Amino acid sequence: MTHTVGSAVDTAAMTALDSAHVIHPHRLARHSETIVMVRGEGSRVWDTEGREYLDGTAGLALTQVGHGRPELAAAAERQMRQLDYYPSFWEYSNPRAIELATRLIELAPGDLTKVFFTSGGSDGVEAAIRMARLYHYQRGATGRTVILSRRGAYHGVGYGSGSLTGFADYHVGFSPMLPDVQHLTPPWAYRRELFDGHDPTDFCLRELERTIEEIGPGRIAAFVGEPVMGVAGMVTPPDDYWSRAEALLRAHGILLVADEVICGYGRTGHWFASERYDITPDIMVTAKGLTSGYFPLGAVLVSGAVAEQLDLGPDGFPIGYTYTGHPTGCAVALANLDVIERENLVRRAAELGRSLLAALAPLADLPVVGEVRGAGLMIALELVRDTAAGTAVGANIARYVREEHGIIVRPHETVVSISPPLVLTDAEADRLVAALRDALTRVGPDGTVRR
Ligand SMILES: Cc1ncc(COP(=O)(O)O)c(C=O)c1O
Repeated sequence: MTHTVGSAVDTAAMTALDSAHVIHPHRLARHSETIVMVRGEGSRVWDTEGREYLDGTAGLALTQVGHGRPELAAAAERQMRQLDYYPSFWEYSNPRAIELATRLIELAPGDLTKVFFTSGGSDGVEAAIRMARLYHYQRGATGRTVILSRRGAYHGVGYGSGSLTGFADYHVGFSPMLPDVQHLTPPWAYRRELFDGHDPTDFCLRELERTIEEIGPGRIAAFVGEPVMGVAGMVTPPDDYWSRAEALLRAHGILLVADEVICGYGRTGHWFASERYDITPDIMVTAKGLTSGYFPLGAVLVSGAVAEQLDLGPDGFPIGYTYTGHPTGCAVALANLDVIERENLVRRAAELGRSLLAALAPLADLPVVGEVRGAGLMIALELVRDTAAGTAVGANIARYVREEHGIIVRPHETVVSISPPLVLTDAEADRLVAALRDALTRVGPDGTVRR
């Protein structure tokens, strides 16, 4: 079969080939609906039928600078023509990786001093787990292998990172995960039932203290957490959660790993959310917004104390990915950071986040909305869970908003999340709010959205 991507006439053929040959994350194979995207510009994308969508989620919460940026394409082309790829293993390096690492260290909070490049978030978290364990091992604390995480956390899909991910479907019987991982209660204040009537931070801290006592501090390598839990539904912790957790972890020599894969690079209105919550991570995992998704690249930033311990035996740091320090990826990241800086997109995320949140806040008066919350441009509407249709309400709302308003938002269980590009215009933000208001006012008691 011949097929040319991008013309309206071949949509049916494309869809059939997609169903036959492409495995999609989180979609049943028998589900045949496929939207084939072919073009993007700013906060908009277009499908094979020429339909325009407002990208209210910035893809998977990563297109900070918007779609279709010629500066990023030019940087990739320039680098590919000069030196497309060369490894960063052993004694080899390249100018773009060196420039990018230096720049990230200048931007980063606390005393992060070195950078390990990855291809994305999951493998960044894998690296962070190895680094945390190696740090203790090299200092003689060979029993410190346990990693603490939280239920509802998302840290990726590798066997280490997937073990930290705190969703039940990652821990089903066919794929046993790492044994040395314990999941704690997330600081999800809206879910009052989690805290037994106690203040959420007090509850979480008491649980953390008890867990450390039970496992034994001499067995715990690190606590890994998203400063704001993204996939679960933009869960913003109470203001005192991170500072109190950090103090307790430090008192027990447990490393703090901030997973800033979504939060990083301006999304919360700060370069990194660790600044927002005033924490000093020992290891910070980043990806996504580092290149705005134009190239698969991640960066794990480590403190001087951790970096000192990473050379194992005669062979140095014992992990590396083929694409570690990819020159083209690093060139794209540098161009992306230039745009974020030049266009003041971190400040834009803070300001637009505040105004979007203010515009959405009145929706909490609707019977279907339990809470409206957010940090910068990580914003969520938590739906009331006793609505008859339960989980489907979010999915129904997202479908309605896409089909009737041409806007993409993301449902996850009983949450609807938005994480638009940082370049979203005021007019586009107004459209987003109006579409959500329209959908939410049409939700019936059975969870369907009246057309
Ligand atoms: C906080 C966090 N960590 C890790 C990951 C995994 O990143 P990747 O999909 O690039 O492997 C994600 C992806 O959404 C994430 O949100």
